[in-house]
Amino acid sequence: MARVTFISVLLLTLVSLGLAMVRTPNYAADIKRAQQLQGSSKNKRNSVPAGYVAAPYYPTPPGGWVSNWTAAYAKAQKVVANMTLAEKVNLTTGVGEDMGRCVGNTGSALRFGIPNLCLQDSALGVADTDNVTAFPAGITVGATWSKALAYARGLALGAEARGKGVNIQLGPVVGPMGRKPRGGRNWEGFGADPVLQAWGGAETVKGIQANGVIATIKHFIGNEQEAYRMDIIPHGLMQAISSNIDDRTLHELYSWPFAEAIRAGVGAVMMSYNDVNGSASSQNSMMINGILKDEFGFQGIVMCDWLAQISGVGSALAGLDMAMPGDGDIPFFGLAYWAYELSTSVLNGTVPLSRLNDMVTRIVATISRVPLVLTSTHSKTLRRGMLTRDYQWYQLGQDQDYPPPNFSANTANPTGLCYPAAVFSPTCVTNEYVNVQADHFKVARNISREAITLLKNINNTLPLSTSAVLKIFGSDAENNPAGPNACSERACDTGVLGMGWGTGTANYPYLDAPIDAIKRKAANVTYYSSDSFPSGLTATASDIAIVFVNSDSGENQDTVEGNDGDRSASGLYTWHGGDALVEAAAAKYATVIVVIHTVGPILVENWIDLPSVKAVVFAHLPGQEAGDSLTDILFGDYSPSGHLPYSIPVAESDYPSSVSLVGFEFFQVQDTFSEGLYIDYRYLNKHSIAPRFAFGHGLSYTTFSRTSATITAVTPLSSTPPTRASTGSTPVYSTAIPPASEVAWPAGFNAISRYLYPYLDDPQSISSSGTFNYPTGYQTTPQPDPPAGGDQGGNPALWDVMFTLSVNVTNTGKFAGKDVVMVFVQYPSDNPWDTPIIQLRAFEKTDTLAAGEGEVVTLQITRKDLSIWDVVSQNWIIPVSSTAPFLFWIGDSSANLTLACESLSGKCSDGRALPVVAPKSG
Ligand SMILES: *[C@@H]1O[C@H](CO)[C@@H](O)[C@H](O)[C@H]1NC(C)=O
Ligand SMILES: *[C@@H]1O[C@H](CO)[C@@H](O)[C@H](O)[C@H]1NC(C)=O
Ligand SMILES: *[C@@H]1O[C@H](CO)[C@@H](O)[C@H](O)[C@H]1NC(C)=O
Ligand SMILES: *[C@@H]1O[C@H](CO)[C@@H](O)[C@H](O)[C@H]1NC(C)=O
Ligand SMILES: *[C@@H]1O[C@H](CO)[C@@H](O)[C@H](O)[C@H]1NC(C)=O
Ligand SMILES: *[C@@H]1O[C@H](CO)[C@@H](O)[C@H](O)[C@H]1NC(C)=O
Ligand SMILES: *[C@@H]1O[C@H](CO)[C@@H](O)[C@H](O)[C@H]1NC(C)=O
Repeated sequence: MARVTFISVLLLTLVSLGLAMVRTPNYAADIKRAQQLQGSSKNKRNSVPAGYVAAPYYPTPPGGWVSNWTAAYAKAQKVVANMTLAEKVNLTTGVGEDMGRCVGNTGSALRFGIPNLCLQDSALGVADTDNVTAFPAGITVGATWSKALAYARGLALGAEARGKGVNIQLGPVVGPMGRKPRGGRNWEGFGADPVLQAWGGAETVKGIQANGVIATIKHFIGNEQEAYRMDIIPHGLMQAISSNIDDRTLHELYSWPFAEAIRAGVGAVMMSYNDVNGSASSQNSMMINGILKDEFGFQGIVMCDWLAQISGVGSALAGLDMAMPGDGDIPFFGLAYWAYELSTSVLNGTVPLSRLNDMVTRIVATISRVPLVLTSTHSKTLRRGMLTRDYQWYQLGQDQDYPPPNFSANTANPTGLCYPAAVFSPTCVTNEYVNVQADHFKVARNISREAITLLKNINNTLPLSTSAVLKIFGSDAENNPAGPNACSERACDTGVLGMGWGTGTANYPYLDAPIDAIKRKAANVTYYSSDSFPSGLTATASDIAIVFVNSDSGENQDTVEGNDGDRSASGLYTWHGGDALVEAAAAKYATVIVVIHTVGPILVENWIDLPSVKAVVFAHLPGQEAGDSLTDILFGDYSPSGHLPYSIPVAESDYPSSVSLVGFEFFQVQDTFSEGLYIDYRYLNKHSIAPRFAFGHGLSYTTFSRTSATITAVTPLSSTPPTRASTGSTPVYSTAIPPASEVAWPAGFNAISRYLYPYLDDPQSISSSGTFNYPTGYQTTPQPDPPAGGDQGGNPALWDVMFTLSVNVTNTGKFAGKDVVMVFVQYPSDNPWDTPIIQLRAFEKTDTLAAGEGEVVTLQITRKDLSIWDVVSQNWIIPVSSTAPFLFWIGDSSANLTLACESLSGKCSDGRALPVVAPKSG
């Protein structure tokens, strides 16, 4: 989401000049204005290239048929059956930007104990508040390749959200995928591969929701660049960018992690700002009704991103369940597409009452749902001591003892306006400064440490001795002198880079800077904080230079050093002349170690082969524990075990131009995903372009052998999956349109100006006699069951295990360490579908293995892992062959796959030639 900053200031100024003083509670003029907005030209979109279709998909499949949700729906149905129209509408619509404590606040239904629900960013901590942990970013979790740590972080994130009274946490992020290396928000997700992204997202969801907090997987879908992602206010001037994605690519790449998060039980999905195939995501019936709710069987809440809604009836029919922050496209006027307008459109019969009932049932079912129970993976996490007793397990839903918000996203003061955007607001307690950090710094440090990726380490330069003479260069080693939170939403690149910028951030309680940690650890440290190399230094042969450089990006409401969210100005180079600093140090010192904090891939060609650049370390975005997590590795307390969650190319031009940032076009920017499945290593492999460092690359201080691989066929292959069960029953309610009096202003109601209510001045006057021009393709007859659906996430048979692989990993070196075992699948050579040569399908990280110690790692390959999305049959098809096997490549990066197992013969062998180009290094 984006917080409205400049525009809010402008509008508040206008409003304080008297534009909207006439209200309370006469909303008639606003309703008229809103109706005009609804009929305006915003819904007209530019045409998209041929072949990219946003086909209509109606009606919305109601929730309630998935067994995981049966109990919650039964509970919800009893409540919703008794709700008035006003109560129902209340739960669907936010009360307005800056009208409550959180970044999003729904209306309430206090008769049923449902308060204003608090929706709050972000994916790495509770945003805009104090006394929370600033966790490492998603990309850092991706670099650990540890499912257990992803879960542990989710658990801690959720505990903090709950402690602050957040009902719905706006994370994790699995879109963007990282299709565009320059994309601004790639760092909020887990890496440029659907399987890595899916594990990161699903484990985070399970962790958050184990606290009874609802997680939100976002942004659905195609938010691969920041520039032009939104409709520009006022609408009509320029429409949001259209991400044009073909059906197969949608299934095999971009929606894969969303489907996995839905299978993991995620409670909410946030739609993206951008259009998909020329239809706004907030009202894209194919994406919401078709993909999310029918095919993926999503039972929870679909919300729009902040102010992304562009129609009332249209978005309701397309499947949107919650409008955030409630305002229509222009905030602070008390204007909405839903709230009172949704009341009208139900009373006049245009939005079927059944659709409203479904929205509300989904919301109530989600908030009253029993959280997931512990699985064996999670027990293992506990056993490994990654979690402590401070984590609490709530076995009840949010209808039981859930704390109300105790902070305000609007102010850090103890008291302030209760409704900051109202013309007149009473004063409230705003912040209670509840400290929710517990000992979460431990899990934060574990992740930041395990993410650290050693790209190069000539002659065991690392680890360092604490008695080495160290010369440290670069401002990225120290804290921002003005404090780590000096820039709002981290929209500056001053000092060590612990997170990107935008709403996907949290305030640091402290930021342990690398230089401080190094000084705590080493005896002889000299620090030069300038990003220009100092003159007049003398170097001795044994001096070791450590150069800190970084590369930042963020959300596009802020431009930082010319970068408008995306890395539009810096490209993939380090900021502040980082390359020159490395080169200057390399000219002076015989041993140079480069430490990089980065949002994504950077180009290292300017210095990577310089003889004195002996070691290169990617520390990603470590959050508050940037210091100790790094020295843990630099001085050898732990061996590095991070692996790249993306490839590092030799040149940006190694990628197709279709993944470049798309520039300005009149009315609507078209971003056509013409490279299809070929992003990151999938593209480089197809075109035999050697990366500098391959996807998954990461060195260790020790060595591992991977031997005795085995493959076991578990389920016989069939090209189509077993037929799904048909969609089960869903709650049935009365179809009688409720009495108009249910949305009349309650007698004596003290309305807050510009606050959004479900009420109407004269509800009795609403008539259903008019005709409504329904969207093309609108129908009320349910669609036939999609063959690929059948449970949450899709046809449950897609997760049937087809093969189990096992491999013995032994630590053959002298250092304790962890290995990551990755499995890439190569489809049969007679596969008729154009498919990437190899694709990551499974991975596991070992426990810490002492020197000489071994572990048998087992990995599962599911039906979906072997399937192609067939756009004709709209199903997942295995290209079964009686002569050509599937090959399962086992190793520790997309280019270092030393073992291969075959599906047909059931044999595994060593030394087979990998059919992909070797990287330049690593
Ligand atoms: C919920 O779904 C998961 C994954 O599909 C499944 O393993 C679990 O048994 C389900 N739980 C219930 C209560 O149905
Ligand atoms: C719900 O409706 C039932 C039957 O109509 C009634 O007995 C019950 O009191 C109602 N509960 C609430 C909270 O309104
Ligand atoms: C709707 O929510 C508002 C608070 O956001 C509350 O004042 C009002 O009473 C609620 N209406 C009903 C019918 O519960
Ligand atoms: C019903 O109300 C909605 C919301 O005001 C409006 O958009 C729609 O046109 C109305 N339908 C009819 C038939 O008047
Ligand atoms: C954390 O909470 C305490 C009160 O418990 C408060 O004094 C302190 O200022 C808070 N920290 C921050 C950074 O606001
Ligand atoms: C590594 O060390 C050996 C032995 O000291 C030396 O001969 C060799 O040149 C070194 N290699 C590099 C790349 O520095
Ligand atoms: C650091 O090392 C240099 C070079 O060996 C030496 O001259 C200096 O005295 C050392 N400083 C400390 C504080 O040990």
